[in-house]
Amino acid sequence: MQLIDGKQIAQDIRNEIARQVQGITAEGGKAPHLAAVLVGNDGGSETYVSHKVKACQEVGFQSSLFRYPDTISEAELLQVVEDINRNPDIDGLIVQLPLPRHISPDKVTEKIRPEKDVDGFHPANLGRMVKGWPCYLPATPNGIVELLKRSGIATAGKHCVVLGRSQIVGLPMSILMGRAAEPGNCTVTMCHSRTADIPAITRQADILIAAIGKPGFVRADMVKDGAVVIDVGTTRVADPAKKSGFSLKGDVLFDEVAPKCSHITPVPGGVGPMTIASLLQNTLLAARKAIYG
Ligand code: GUN
Repeated sequence: MQLIDGKQIAQDIRNEIARQVQGITAEGGKAPHLAAVLVGNDGGSETYVSHKVKACQEVGFQSSLFRYPDTISEAELLQVVEDINRNPDIDGLIVQLPLPRHISPDKVTEKIRPEKDVDGFHPANLGRMVKGWPCYLPATPNGIVELLKRSGIATAGKHCVVLGRSQIVGLPMSILMGRAAEPGNCTVTMCHSRTADIPAITRQADILIAAIGKPGFVRADMVKDGAVVIDVGTTRVADPAKKSGFSLKGDVLFDEVAPKCSHITPVPGGVGPMTIASLLQNTLLAARKAIYG
């Protein structure tokens, strides 16, 4: 069994990005600039956004954090997005999800100019991904593709089972694994809450990608010998032994499943660090105007 070290692979990518930023600024160019919009005080979102801002600083990007109380109206937030859309100094924009219930995430996502949508959530970028055109790929699925590539895992002709159909992970993941590319060229099955007999399907997986947010859902008897298992779960579970008061639990019962795998990602230190690395990659593409010209 080989552990896929997402922390190390993400660090390699960040080093590559930092070198490219040095190249841009050495030639008198402007450092890429990411804007993050954070609404309210959700603990998870606070942590993710602060990690994103810190990662920007580490690679030499400029970053701006726009914070608003959860009393901001939808119209006001749409105006914030529009102002950032029109700001020529800002290359990429993310609005951290989830948003308060009175604000439609779809309306906000659609307001972001596709050229600045480095999350890859805008319908224009999702549509371009489905077409196989150049686009900003959503960060977590793209990070997983990068993990498979840099771990030398062959995917063509393999059966990939994706657990979960979320718009952020499961749905785009199934499209990327099925496309005519390497990594890709898989036969893909997507399982969700209405799937009958999930274990019968996961047992057929050469590559199993679990993204349902249920800690320990994938047990040893659901996994084929020699499978590659990618765990996207990051559920916070109370843990008095930790200073933060919680620990992160994956969707896979690691101790039980790992001995059966050829490769497996740990939680934490697997997929998580790759998500931020992908966001940085997209922001660099935005600054270089590599997708939309
Ligand atoms: N919430 C959970 N994951 C993400 C992400 O990748 N981007 C944004 N904007 N919000 C999220």
